[in-house]
Amino acid sequence: MTAQAGLHDPFGRRIEYLRLSVTDRCDLRCSYCLPKGFKDFEEPAHWLTFDEIERLVGAFARLGVGRVRLTGGEPLLRHNLPDLAARLNRLPGIHDISLSTNATQLEKHAQALKAAGVARINVSLDSLKAERLAEIAGRDCLDRVLAGLMAAKAAGFAPIKINMVALRGVNDDEIDDMVAFCLHHGFTLRLIETMPVGDTGRNANYLDLQPVRHRLAEQFGLVEGVMSGGGPARYLRSPDGKFHIGFITPISQHFCPSCNRVRLSVDGTLFLCLGQEARVEFRPLLRSGADAATLEEFIRNAIAIKPERHEFREEPGKILRFMSATGG
Ligand SMILES: C[S@@+](CC[C@H](N)C(=O)[O-])C[C@H]1O[C@@H](n2cnc3c(N)ncnc32)[C@H](O)[C@@H]1O
Ligand code: SF4
Repeated sequence: MTAQAGLHDPFGRRIEYLRLSVTDRCDLRCSYCLPKGFKDFEEPAHWLTFDEIERLVGAFARLGVGRVRLTGGEPLLRHNLPDLAARLNRLPGIHDISLSTNATQLEKHAQALKAAGVARINVSLDSLKAERLAEIAGRDCLDRVLAGLMAAKAAGFAPIKINMVALRGVNDDEIDDMVAFCLHHGFTLRLIETMPVGDTGRNANYLDLQPVRHRLAEQFGLVEGVMSGGGPARYLRSPDGKFHIGFITPISQHFCPSCNRVRLSVDGTLFLCLGQEARVEFRPLLRSGADAATLEEFIRNAIAIKPERHEFREEPGKILRFMSATGG
């Protein structure tokens, strides 16, 4: 396979997007993601260094993976994240760097991230009510998240997407308020169904988003839309194209046939599917001084074992790791 031909998995899907978890640590404990009191984090000695990440992402880029999302845990807890973003942005073949964050630290980093070449930002925000958000996220944080969002807007990020995990009986009464908030600020809203990843994900209050989608389309006169970024969200938009709302529905309508991504955790494990155990360890290879050709060969071999689809419905008890390990 040549670099031009790109990486294709056994099911004919082109893999061109890498989600890079730069830490598994987080300052929040969202009820559906990380358990309260969780401390079983990866040893710092096992974290890939920026040099190691750069070597590995460089190999992916030579194989046609041009888009990287920085995620975690909370990626802004990793020291000097803008420096890493700038280094990755300079790699030949990388043309899109984005960030998923809870925004608690975004106010102080927004300008530096923009200067480093981060093109797009997704912010998790499940409620606009301070007490409710503290309940969901395990910590009082609304003011800091809003300050982070406004700093990102001021720094010129566009689009800014708000990720809201829809939880039955917890925040589903706030979906319309969130639409109004996003309309007002020019943000794109994405509603997410909970996935049974870890006990936390399994025990979350799952809400089927299909009825929500139909109701919002009717109520706000929305039509089918598309958004650049190539993610799993299915979009509706206002007729003037100024507002988009995406639905990430892994359970009620899965999107595996168009999956274009793999996930690298902070310890150098490449996960081939969010909902399966298939994985390949890259840290030993990087630390044994593997050359560029060997790294590329291992990546091709890893893509060859990418599973066809998750089995969240059939086997909801399968994935024990928490979402913070693989970055969502
Ligand atoms: C794991 S977080 C990492 C990045 C950052 N800390 C954040 O919250 O945006 C990435 C995404 O995964 C989502 N997520 C976490 N656990 C989930 C679950 N069980 N089901 C669905 N989405 C989940 C979060 O809402 C977030 O949008
Ligand atoms: S969803 Fe993001 S912010 Fe919430 S606990 Fe998980 S990693 Fe942290």
